[in-house]
Amino acid sequence: MKIIDVSEIKPGMILAERLVSPRGQVLAEPGTPITAQQLLHASYYGIKQVAVQDEEEAIDKYDDEAPDEFIGETQSWRILNSKEFKEFKAAYNKCVDKLEAIITDFVDNKVPMESDELIDEIHKVFEKHSTGLGIMAMMLNIQEIDASTFQHSVNVAIISRVCGGWLGITNEDELDVLTMCGLYHDIGKSLVPHRILTKAGKLTAEEFARMAEHPLLGYNLLVESEIDRRIKLAALQHHERNDGNGYPYGLTKDFISPFSKIIAITDVYDAMTADRCYRAGICPFEVIAQFQREDKARYDQNILQIFLENIADSYIGTGVLLSDGSRGIISMINHTALSSPLVKLDDGTFVDMRERNDLYIRACI
Ligand SMILES: [Fe+2]
Ligand SMILES: [Fe+2]
Repeated sequence: MKIIDVSEIKPGMILAERLVSPRGQVLAEPGTPITAQQLLHASYYGIKQVAVQDEEEAIDKYDDEAPDEFIGETQSWRILNSKEFKEFKAAYNKCVDKLEAIITDFVDNKVPMESDELIDEIHKVFEKHSTGLGIMAMMLNIQEIDASTFQHSVNVAIISRVCGGWLGITNEDELDVLTMCGLYHDIGKSLVPHRILTKAGKLTAEEFARMAEHPLLGYNLLVESEIDRRIKLAALQHHERNDGNGYPYGLTKDFISPFSKIIAITDVYDAMTADRCYRAGICPFEVIAQFQREDKARYDQNILQIFLENIADSYIGTGVLLSDGSRGIISMINHTALSSPLVKLDDGTFVDMRERNDLYIRACI
């Protein structure tokens, strides 16, 4: 075993010890080859050195066996290393810190929430990226395995604002309200015991019941505040589902506010991409497929279709690695099968992913 600086580690080196984040989440197990994505996350967490096995041949062996996605040249790798992403991340972190300060002061000390400065910070995140495409690709890559509720809430706020634009909302004040719906939707979690929020394993029935109280707790926290009523409703209704199978009240679609329906979708989208954040070359087609496997009656299909269509369309022209090792670029999105685009392979032939159940997109490169 030898201890090496993170800057000198190459993807494929075999870990000698468990790689752990400062908050104790396991990033990678010993005996496994480290991936480019894990390396980037290690440096983001401020991990300076890593213990690796000394067999030099392990790297060559891994290079032979490893799919190309681990070599580093994925779209995620380029985004994470770009100057633009670093600026984006700095603006994003400011939003997270500010949201935490505002919510903590409000919940603990009853200090009224001053949302204007926070909204200004959100505007700064957007100023650097006038197109939704840039932001959604960045959001996909900003995910962390142990993201806090505040990070998650900023994610939902940013993604909802982008979605609002796609839905045709142009009024800035309306977009600000929608953004605040995202920022405060999980405010009730401040009153759920930390032990339950951060529990790594499955929740017991009792713990789940405590967790499921957060929409009502959130609404009660906000109810006296002088904020738009839709923000209070988003806190209350974001786990309601159109078919009546949500909570806390099991409301059906006619009784759920339109902004709450948007947050229901962006909230789940953020959770799905967070689950995959350690995948090298993460791209959204798998998440789109997962949404489409869900019961159509759960979400507002009009909002969902526009949201997923725009995300899929933004990947036209992106390089992809398929599960059989072939490479190509996304050349057309089938609007009736968003997760199965038409791919132009490097040899000039086309693959219609709708007709190939044996293939899937493994990474965006
Ligand atoms: Fe929630
Ligand atoms: Fe949430």
